Amino acid sequence: MTRIFSGVKPTGHLTLGNYLGAVRQWVAADQKPDEALFCVVDLHALTVEHDPARVRRLSRQAATLLLAAGLDPERCTLFVQSHVDEHTRLSYLLECTASDGELRRMIQYREKAGRAQAAGDGVRLSLLTYPVLMAADILAYRSEEVPVGEDQRQHVELTRDLAVRFNQRYGPTFTVPKATHPAVAARVMDLQDPRSKMGKSHEVSAGVVYLLDEPAAVTKKVMRAVTDTGSGVVYDREARPGVANLLDILAACTGGDPVELAAGYTGYGQLKRDVAEAVVELLRPVRERHAELAADPAAVDGVLRAGAERARGIARPVVDGAYEAIGLLAP
Ligand code: TYM
Repeated sequence: MTRIFSGVKPTGHLTLGNYLGAVRQWVAADQKPDEALFCVVDLHALTVEHDPARVRRLSRQAATLLLAAGLDPERCTLFVQSHVDEHTRLSYLLECTASDGELRRMIQYREKAGRAQAAGDGVRLSLLTYPVLMAADILAYRSEEVPVGEDQRQHVELTRDLAVRFNQRYGPTFTVPKATHPAVAARVMDLQDPRSKMGKSHEVSAGVVYLLDEPAAVTKKVMRAVTDTGSGVVYDREARPGVANLLDILAACTGGDPVELAAGYTGYGQLKRDVAEAVVELLRPVRERHAELAADPAAVDGVLRAGAERARGIARPVVDGAYEAIGLLAP
């Protein structure tokens, strides 16, 4: 049995990128006999300017959407990061394992710190240490596999480095995890700017499909997607990123291969119509189930409470072991 861990941060409404890059793999993992833990990583939402009420609202919404997408709380453990103290307890030990230099090299830190500075906002220290907390999320459960989109690859690499370093210095404590990515759509791009990732915290949302968008809104966004100059439909991520993104999305929705799908089209119009329809149909059951579940927030909170209890039971002995290994006196 493989132990799987992954998380989503409540900084915005969940997007098609989150769904195709991560959540869909979680639902598939949940059908297997593996032991899976999925977490709404709310502490990570505090690393950038935030509105407290919004973070709280988005945390519950993310949990509700994960259930709506098909996670079964009888089979997996679904919880909120801040409900389990072990994450922050372990994070400090890993800060004592990581170096300042390796954190400053993280691509997401450089991008987000650059954006915060440009907007005149201060850069929170937690933005720099964020990948260490992410490593703690993963290592506290001795997780083996971490299903994520392409953008999290570097953070999982850092997690591996920290696990190996800690184990070498203080004795075997952590399992060294590996990232897994979907075969297609591991990096869904913004429909208006196909050289940037489709991100939930983007301020301009015309190129971002949200899981809770109405069908008409999805169709409008897809039909207005930026395509590339040049005629014919070919799959070329470098030269034709807009069309390649649409083909990736279609392939992910229909189970096809993006290169083979390209051969079936002569123009962008039909491709866009097919993508819009495929996305609308993919998201329809999720949106409908979300509406049912959102009507009973107390039930969702109950799932999260039970999940935190189970998660604590796994993480506590692992983190206690790390405290002892690193040289702290047991209480
Ligand atoms: P987050 O909240 O940005 O995204 C959640 C998951 O969705 C994937 N994803 C995408 N995949 C494909 N195309 C996209 N456009 C796209 N946008 C997002 C992400 O790769 C991710 O898998 N640091 C993490 C959250 C985290 C975490 C963890 C993940 C914290 N602790 C421990 C795994 C294990 C993040 O910001 O994800």
